[in-house]
Amino acid sequence: MFHISDAKNFVGEEVEIRGWLYNKRSKGKILFYIIRDGTGYIQAVAVKGEAPDKAFEMYDQLGLESSIIVKGIVREEPRAPGGYELTLTDIKPVHKSVDYPITKKEHGTAFLMEHRHLWLRSKKQRAILRIRSFVEKKIVDFFYENGFVRIDTPILTATAAEGTTNLFATEYFNLGKAYLAQTGQLYLEAAIFAHGLVYNFGPTFRAEKSKTRRHLMEFWMIEAEEAFYDNDDNIALQEKFISYLIQNVLENCGDDLKILERDTSLLEKVVPPFPKITYDEAIEILSRKNFKIRWGEDFGGDDETAISESFEKPVFVMNYPRDIKAFYMKEHSERPELVKCADLIAPEGYGEIIGGSQREEDYDKLLKNMKDFGLSEDDYGWYLDLRKYGSVPHSGFGMGLERFVAWVCGIPHVREAIPFPRMLYRIYP
Ligand code: 4AD
Ligand code: MG
Repeated sequence: MFHISDAKNFVGEEVEIRGWLYNKRSKGKILFYIIRDGTGYIQAVAVKGEAPDKAFEMYDQLGLESSIIVKGIVREEPRAPGGYELTLTDIKPVHKSVDYPITKKEHGTAFLMEHRHLWLRSKKQRAILRIRSFVEKKIVDFFYENGFVRIDTPILTATAAEGTTNLFATEYFNLGKAYLAQTGQLYLEAAIFAHGLVYNFGPTFRAEKSKTRRHLMEFWMIEAEEAFYDNDDNIALQEKFISYLIQNVLENCGDDLKILERDTSLLEKVVPPFPKITYDEAIEILSRKNFKIRWGEDFGGDDETAISESFEKPVFVMNYPRDIKAFYMKEHSERPELVKCADLIAPEGYGEIIGGSQREEDYDKLLKNMKDFGLSEDDYGWYLDLRKYGSVPHSGFGMGLERFVAWVCGIPHVREAIPFPRMLYRIYP
């Protein structure tokens, strides 16, 4: 079957396009039908007296987004957006769409979100989800090329790993409550003892009562876990990973980035090494900018934006206070009030895109952390076992796919970086 994206190979030939009416115009004796088929857009031109009469009879009946089968002869046309046009020879409706709700005028975000199932068809939304799809492929390629084994971690879990306040719970037969996974990390840790280097990639759930441009209730996370890596090795891997993804997007997604009007010069700067600062230094930066934050507090969205403004590239913020991080993080060797971790903050105010750390590998210290964080030893017996049978230093990280895609695409909110976002006030459509 012919696809619009292949037009260049069919110049002078008659082709058949199965698609949808994206737009239409008439000018004197000429009609323009702009058709899309999922691979691209092309304009079919009908001139009175040359094209079949039905192309003119049908003009008023065919509403935007009608599904149609159009035949025409491909012509080179330098002025057309894709470089090609069609001389229309036939047009047949498959289904006539009437009063398509999304028109060419500006709509508010609430309206568009309510019509997300239709909004997906528009040009920018297509570009974003095409980039997302490409990024998903390159994530898998990166880990495969670097010797990682994919471990699909469970979505139904018995315990919390990233705090107990944001869990989605469901009844699990007569075994009590099950929770939708906030992370697959603890299971990945088990798998490093079998495979050394592992990763997962799947949906993650957080019942976060936050209504920000960076939070979803359901998001996709890619997590890596590496045996015998310390915090610095972990950071070096993330640097390589992020640069690889960005460079690949720049090389392969130029058309979509153009549709999104993305300033790619900012992305071109994303090459190693990335700047690295400590939590202490980040607090100093914020104090100099007159932020009210005190040492020991976690960063909010505005703090992260302010930190990122001091750097052109993504910046690692290392060694946070232990009290604001997860129980599994390894204690800093000189300052026990800190942990060996790093968050990667994206430039241009896109906030934290990666959270990572070295893990506590010592049985007694891990057990003490669990008690300090109020976690029950019984629930985590299997996780503690990993520190009993051949424990090793190890590290890992997790990247939120939607935050990464929002940054790459230069869109202000993560809700457009996922096909059907789940947010505090939205689970429809
Ligand atoms: O920093 P987080 O909570 O780290 C973890 O879950 C670790 N277990 C990862 C690991 O070391 N294996 O989440 C990791 C990333 C964040 O940096 C952010 O990009 C994204 O996941 N994220 C969210 N994205 C959208 N909506 C939310 N509610 C998110 N919460 C986290
Ligand atoms: Mg985090």
